[in-house]
Amino acid sequence: MANLKGTAGTVRRAVVCGTGAYLPANVVTNEALSKRVETSDEWIVARTGIRQRHIAAEDERTSDLATEAARRALAHAGLGPENIDLVIVATTTPDNTFPATATAVQAKLGMNGRGFAFDVQAVCSGFVYAMSIADNFIRVGQIETALVIGAETFTRILDWQDRTTCVLFGDGAGAVVLRAEEVAADTGRGILSCHLHSDGRYKDALFVTGGPGSNREVGVVRMNGQEVFRHAVVKLAEVVEEALGANKLTGADVDWLVPHQANQRIIDGMAKKLGLGPEHVVSTVARHANTSAASIPLALAEAAGDGRIKQGQIVLLEAIGGGLTWGASVIRW
Ligand code: UT7
Repeated sequence: MANLKGTAGTVRRAVVCGTGAYLPANVVTNEALSKRVETSDEWIVARTGIRQRHIAAEDERTSDLATEAARRALAHAGLGPENIDLVIVATTTPDNTFPATATAVQAKLGMNGRGFAFDVQAVCSGFVYAMSIADNFIRVGQIETALVIGAETFTRILDWQDRTTCVLFGDGAGAVVLRAEEVAADTGRGILSCHLHSDGRYKDALFVTGGPGSNREVGVVRMNGQEVFRHAVVKLAEVVEEALGANKLTGADVDWLVPHQANQRIIDGMAKKLGLGPEHVVSTVARHANTSAASIPLALAEAAGDGRIKQGQIVLLEAIGGGLTWGASVIRW
């Protein structure tokens, strides 16, 4: 993607200036799940790397998780709700069919009508899509700051009788604060580029059985795991190559791979393709399971919060999800 040139040698970029995360208190282990469905800790760990997941309390909504993650990201950035121009919530489990969960977050944060807020639906790719949208708003100068949140109460759309899906997912939220900065085009911080794709021909590989416009029900998740796995391996490799190539980078330049957390085998395969050892990969799938749009910002918040990801480092995000949708983003942190 072409940079909009600023004054000599500088560009306007969206710089990550804060991260935050929120995980519900209730932790459910594989062992506990194996008492509900016919599965085992051994099977889940061997096939996915997942050991536990967090599950939201009955009275916790997606907007509650999102708001808490956003508050923590704002505190990390040293900013308040009065500084935010845009709130995007990437979610596939909104509080209501409408209005957008992001407007609930806007109100709960006390933005008092400041700015604008909307949801993005790209399932597990939602956070990468939302980052790209916010990046574009910032690059063209329409806004100065954005809160980009991935939040899910994904366990609410699981069929707890279906062992092929119910063991895979969890709830949580992560958020980043983006701020416009005029930086050096060659070495400056910020989102360097985002690359998005979708192919609706594969919409039946991973979908929910309900919807207001079809059967008026919420529905439950159905997935052809093997088919999604096969697409993930190919499409993630392609989009990562595209993203690195656009910035004249190679795998060796990547300080941190922060992938969507669906399956440790997919994460390991990607790291191997890029020639990255585990010390360059942020993996939370064992503890969080697949939290859909929340998985990348949860992982980012953890690794930025504990000091692993440092200013100036190259961070590569990638995700694939229902649609199919997929994408990648390169950030100089
Ligand atoms: O977030 C969006 C992107 N999603 C993904 O990236 C998910 C991609 N897919 C995957 O990660 C994997 O395909 C899964 C983890 C979902 C499944 O792993 P798999 O190695 O592809 O297993 P499988 O579906 O081929 O199932 C193997 C066997 C089957 O039994 P048979 O037919 O071989 O007798 C399943 O019935 O494992 C059985 N099985 C289970 N056994 C114990 C399926 N689920 C379970 C379970 N516990 N929970």
